[in-house]
Amino acid sequence: MADEPRQAIESFSLEGRTLLPPDDFKKDALVRDQSMYDQASEDWTGFWATQALALDWFEEWDTLLEWDLPFARWFGGGQLNVSYNCLDRHVAAGKGDKVAFHWEGEPGDTRTITYAGLLDEVQRFANVLRSLGVQRGDRVAIYMPMVPELPVAMLACTRIGAAHSVVFGGFSADALRDRIDDAAAKVLVTADGGWRRGAVVPLKASADAAADQAPTIEHVVVVRRTDHGVDMKEGRDHWWHDLMEGVAVECEPERMDAEDLLYLLYTSGTTARPKGIMHTTGGYLTQVAFTHKYVFDIKPDTDVYWCAADIGWVTGHSYIVYGPLANGCTGVLYEGTPDFPARDRWWDIIERYGVTILYTAPTAIRTFMKWGGQEPAKHDLSSLRLLGSVGEPINPEAWTWYWEHIGGGRCPVVDTWWQTETGAIMISPLPGATALKPGSATFPLPGVEAEVVDDQGKPVERGGGYLTLTRPWPSMLRGIYGDPERYRETYWSRFPGRYFAGDGARIDDDGYYWLLGRVDDVMNVSGHRISTTEVESALVDHHSVAEAAVVGAADATTGQGIIAFVTLRGDFESSDEHGQLLRKHVATRIGAIARPKTIVFTDDLPKTRSGKIMRRLLRDVAEGRSLGDTTTLADASVVEEIKRRAASAPTED
Ligand code: WTA
Repeated sequence: MADEPRQAIESFSLEGRTLLPPDDFKKDALVRDQSMYDQASEDWTGFWATQALALDWFEEWDTLLEWDLPFARWFGGGQLNVSYNCLDRHVAAGKGDKVAFHWEGEPGDTRTITYAGLLDEVQRFANVLRSLGVQRGDRVAIYMPMVPELPVAMLACTRIGAAHSVVFGGFSADALRDRIDDAAAKVLVTADGGWRRGAVVPLKASADAAADQAPTIEHVVVVRRTDHGVDMKEGRDHWWHDLMEGVAVECEPERMDAEDLLYLLYTSGTTARPKGIMHTTGGYLTQVAFTHKYVFDIKPDTDVYWCAADIGWVTGHSYIVYGPLANGCTGVLYEGTPDFPARDRWWDIIERYGVTILYTAPTAIRTFMKWGGQEPAKHDLSSLRLLGSVGEPINPEAWTWYWEHIGGGRCPVVDTWWQTETGAIMISPLPGATALKPGSATFPLPGVEAEVVDDQGKPVERGGGYLTLTRPWPSMLRGIYGDPERYRETYWSRFPGRYFAGDGARIDDDGYYWLLGRVDDVMNVSGHRISTTEVESALVDHHSVAEAAVVGAADATTGQGIIAFVTLRGDFESSDEHGQLLRKHVATRIGAIARPKTIVFTDDLPKTRSGKIMRRLLRDVAEGRSLGDTTTLADASVVEEIKRRAASAPTED
């Protein structure tokens, strides 16, 4: 048995050979051939209509698609409710006792949540929200650890037609307040804290700092998780468990229009201000349910599916909560870090729950590689049958390690490309039908059309360029909250008529897509999107900083690391301590995930004669490359000095 994976690995090379779906996998796969691609290319809108019929509609749509570029409306006139599709219909079909989530807290406490149990909690919390004055069309901010009450709160919003705005628990109070303000959220749902690496993350303290300065917040609901004693503001703050007691257990689902706002999710772009990405009801649920079912080859009766992302990111929204629940699947929800109490926590979870499908990010895989194959080898991972990757380009080495050490050489690896804006997976293999190449996301899914174009917007059949999407798709963003012009400008103006995603891609001789990472000023650190401008503006907002330029430099584990070049004002000294202070400042403004790994103090930044900072050169410096063309620089000696300083700048892990 131990030798098998190695043989399988040796049967394909990393240099472009393909790996056919293993026979054992293929024989029971939902999709085994090209017919779904054929159907979709014959009639792509009809194809999406067929997928939408997998949902329960109170009222079927009358207009399938209205496309007034760049504004799309899908399933116009249709009415449905997301929580009904995720819960009631499964309970009505006799699956109330089926497990929706095996939840595991970091300290080791567990809860088993059935579909009937989840429906009960969702209805009650929906009534709680109503009692706090939340109405259809309002926004609710959610800032929580990975506890069951998080999906409950989201689904309760969808039940009464309020839009949620989930803010990742790693964001700072300032970042939370900005997002609450932008959405004008009425209620904030949070927890006293969460567990991370054995310590309490004091979420309530950050929530207070945000809510104290957020005039729209009328109520704060607090889940008791860590029980470490927090301040409760009279009249504004309420314990979740108090409110849930004695509230009515039934709450009729609102009949929502297909195009009603389902949620906002803020994401970083190329400017300092995060964008509230808008997703609506019918199209979003159609495409997340479709992609979850077919990309992960879901068999709801036997699969135990684990997407190990945080619900605070889009991956968690679409592939922990909405897709899996719409498909009536059993999932795992884990609160903590992979190395608590030891580095085999994930493999232990997979063994104990019999996880069949694992979906995670390349950064995690590279971290596990670093920790060594002996950790997964301590556990029986034979329940696994399919592996997924998302969030950043996966290098062939990490792909192969994943395949071999986690998948035992029997599980297809689906590399899935998509974005907060696309709402659902766009480019990915269908694991029973697609021959894989390690490191390639393979092809656009049925119903999706993508093209790689050159600088002029001309499609390239083979070779590298910019990844664009050429027609609307059901789960596409409907805009940026409060700013339709910015939506047009950000996504649809670089190449007229095309959605430009910000990513570079290459199409190889066999037509496979290889994602090459961002080509704009967005960094990707451990699969988290962070804008260079956002970090720069956090830095210059510190009184000691005169000027700052931030670049993402290649990092073997996290994909990219944040390198900041900082010029201090006259009276400040460029010491290690000052570097620490600035790192902390960025963590306060944005969150720990945005803290620069390295700060290089410099007297000057490389600029063109017109005063534009030349980031390309800074990236070369940060990645230790020989410098490209410096002739356009106003003062070429500046980079030599920066190079010298960068070589000795302290770096933090
Ligand atoms: C990157 C996460 C290569 C890409 C779902 C994209 C990927 C950004 C992949 C979106 C992949 C995501 N291969 N790159 N399989 N998946 N990306 O909005 O740069 O957090 O634009 O959505 O992550 O990040 P976001």
